[in-house]
Amino acid sequence: MIEQSHWHPVTQSSAVSGQPIGVTLLGQAVVVWRDQQGMINAWADQCPHRGARFSLGRVTGDTLECAYHGWQFNNQGRCVHVPALPSFKPPDTHCAKVFQAQEAYGLVWVLLSGQSSPLPLFAAEGDPQLRKINCGPYDVATSAPRVVENFLDMSHFGFVHEGWLGSRDQTTVQDYDVNPTQTGLLATGCKAWQPQSNVHSQIAALVEYRYEVTGPFTAVLTKVPDAGSVAIAGFRESIGLFICPLEPETSRVWFRLAVADFESTHDTLQAFQHTIFMQDKPVLESQTPKRLPLQSGAECHSAADKASAIYRRHLRQLGLTFGVC
Ligand code: FES
Ligand code: CO
Repeated sequence: MIEQSHWHPVTQSSAVSGQPIGVTLLGQAVVVWRDQQGMINAWADQCPHRGARFSLGRVTGDTLECAYHGWQFNNQGRCVHVPALPSFKPPDTHCAKVFQAQEAYGLVWVLLSGQSSPLPLFAAEGDPQLRKINCGPYDVATSAPRVVENFLDMSHFGFVHEGWLGSRDQTTVQDYDVNPTQTGLLATGCKAWQPQSNVHSQIAALVEYRYEVTGPFTAVLTKVPDAGSVAIAGFRESIGLFICPLEPETSRVWFRLAVADFESTHDTLQAFQHTIFMQDKPVLESQTPKRLPLQSGAECHSAADKASAIYRRHLRQLGLTFGVC
């Protein structure tokens, strides 16, 4: 599966402290744990002894101890202690299936296959003028690519987000530029008339959007509202969409906000994003098929959907199979 050679987020960094946790990525059960040095480890969640779940076990110093017979595995995945036979030196073959793992954007990222693509870029991360806050996780009963497509979609604003990101009086999607890139696509010059485009909006405003698909299941939206329409001068924001494809038809979603606002509380900033996504979620979960159809002609399109058409073409070219049909 080509999607195994991409990095995907599996949990928030802060969730991994003293004890192992079990997550799912692309249908694979994965245990995530943090060793004494603070490094993240991600393995197949299955002990090589009798197949018990590692995530039921516990971290003891620099080893993970299986809950069933207490075998201990070091942070290379090697078994180093078998309590039933203390003098036994386990051979190399007594080892966990180890995946690559790293932390970025407040999340733990895992790569299931050895063949690696770069971590999806979130350019706003390095900008000290922007404050970073994560929202989620949201578990959504649909495929990851359906969630990406919804994120790229501007023609639903006036309906799903009426009074917030759009209005029934202003439903026209003006033409925008969209071009394929190595990681997906870049759409620029997108404009939307928004009654309440962000937490600081004072009046309805024309908001300029820029979308970038940065990986099969990740995207970034950058919004710049008309000057004077917001309470904070020079307000701008980037929103990263990071999705863990759990199963073909279930997804775990995080948003990473990078906002030019150091005054509002965490709760205020999260609440806005939460409100918007709770408006999207029922529609997303209602869509059938839950897997994104990649064959042209499978669903009807208008020219306003050209970003979605390019996203589908990109997934087709990648040879993606998870969450599509
Ligand atoms: Fe893990 Fe036996 S199943 S130690
Ligand atoms: Co929406």
